[in-house]
Amino acid sequence: MKMDVLLGLQWGDEGKGKVVDFLAPKYDIVARFQGGPNAGHTLEFDGIKHVLHQIPSGIFREKLKNIIGNGVVLDPVVLKKEIEGLKKFNIKISENLFVSKKATIILPTHKLLDAAYEKSKGDKKIGSTLKGIGPTYQDKIGRVAIRVGDILSPDFKEKYQALLERHLSILNYYSHDVGELPELEKAFFNAVEFFKQLNLVETEYEVNEALDSGKKVLAEGAQGSLLDIDFGSYPFVTSSNTMTSGACSGLGVAPMRIGDVFGIFKAYCTRVGSGPFPTELFDSTGEEMRREGNEFGSTTGRPRRCGWIDLPALKYSIMINGVTQLFMMKADVLNIFKEIKICTHYLLEDGSKVDKLSFDLGEKEVTPVYITMKGWDQSLSHVSSYDEFPEELRQYTEYLERELGVPISMVSVGPDRKQTILK
Ligand code: GDP
Ligand code: IMO
Ligand code: MG
Repeated sequence: MKMDVLLGLQWGDEGKGKVVDFLAPKYDIVARFQGGPNAGHTLEFDGIKHVLHQIPSGIFREKLKNIIGNGVVLDPVVLKKEIEGLKKFNIKISENLFVSKKATIILPTHKLLDAAYEKSKGDKKIGSTLKGIGPTYQDKIGRVAIRVGDILSPDFKEKYQALLERHLSILNYYSHDVGELPELEKAFFNAVEFFKQLNLVETEYEVNEALDSGKKVLAEGAQGSLLDIDFGSYPFVTSSNTMTSGACSGLGVAPMRIGDVFGIFKAYCTRVGSGPFPTELFDSTGEEMRREGNEFGSTTGRPRRCGWIDLPALKYSIMINGVTQLFMMKADVLNIFKEIKICTHYLLEDGSKVDKLSFDLGEKEVTPVYITMKGWDQSLSHVSSYDEFPEELRQYTEYLERELGVPISMVSVGPDRKQTILK
């Protein structure tokens, strides 16, 4: 079998959690391959609303293995809290959660470093979630990080101490207050003890052997392609490869074993944190989108910046990921608009019109070029099949399909599992 990949094509929060949960019954394994507690994936079903940060979004489905792969950076304190939060649902974590021994551990000082680095950047700050993501990946690439398997080693404490001292010297350089460290360390070591009881394994074998035996695997991306460390709006990005290739390196699966790539996008666009956003709206339309879409961060609660859909950016994400199917999310949020805009090109300072993303997207003035379509201007609550779509929504969907060159095989019209229309 081949491994399917599901990922966000914009700046994150496209609705990945909802769709992974919806698709999960078709799979034997759901696996996270990158990111960490910066992610917030929301699931809604049977009157329950639940946000997952590190645990894969297949966890509510029975008889399904959930894997946290080697490419993830993992905070034991957050994981313990997440697992405790799932207790009331009678989920058998000991049977259906597996963590890679090669995943990297977020230490308390990584979070302090995140804060120190952000503070030092002043008004150029990234708008990080401050979960320690950047500093942890930095240590991984710097070959000094602590991995999950290390917590089982007799010299774990020495490894911790060596990295701690390194971090303290950097924090001292930034004159960053470390007063809360003893408290953070207490919670950390407590969570590490808890962590030892989990299934800590070589997840690359779990995934490849499952594929060999005909089982179906879905890789669940975090963040979005425009936050990718290589191809996103650098430096306003996260510190991992959020794209399809990240699923290969983050799980140990060969590129030739990738099957479908499901690219998820909102019917409009949002971004949380700093960085370029060509179609951002600063007017009442943007505010209405935020209100209708309840666009407040699932991890930090920050208001999300909102704007119209951006085709040059989507085309770019589709190209770098090899997307085979598109899923359009939150179509219902546009119900309130009489007219809907679609950005087809960017007008640059020199007067040229382009539909490509440049290296310096964030530094130059970019004016979006829009076409306007008539909105459907009605509720979608009655819609349960594509045939029942208002004509204008059908036209919007089909226009996007033509422009993007990939079929939109699913349209989401509400946060609940059931509000999902297959086309
Ligand atoms: P993720 O990070 O990609 O999993 O997305 P988030 O969970 O951070 O943000 C998506 C938000 O939109 C969540 O609050 C979801 O419950 C909600 N949502 C998902 N799909 C839809 C939809 O089709 N319509 C509406 N109105 N909300 C949706
Ligand atoms: P999900 O998986 C939206 C953003 C942050 C910041 C930048 C870097 O829920 O879609 P980091 O904490 O990684 O150093 O932050 O990336 N960011 C996200 N934005 N959704 C996410 O995850 C995000 N994870 C990180 O706001 O701008
Ligand atoms: Mg999110």
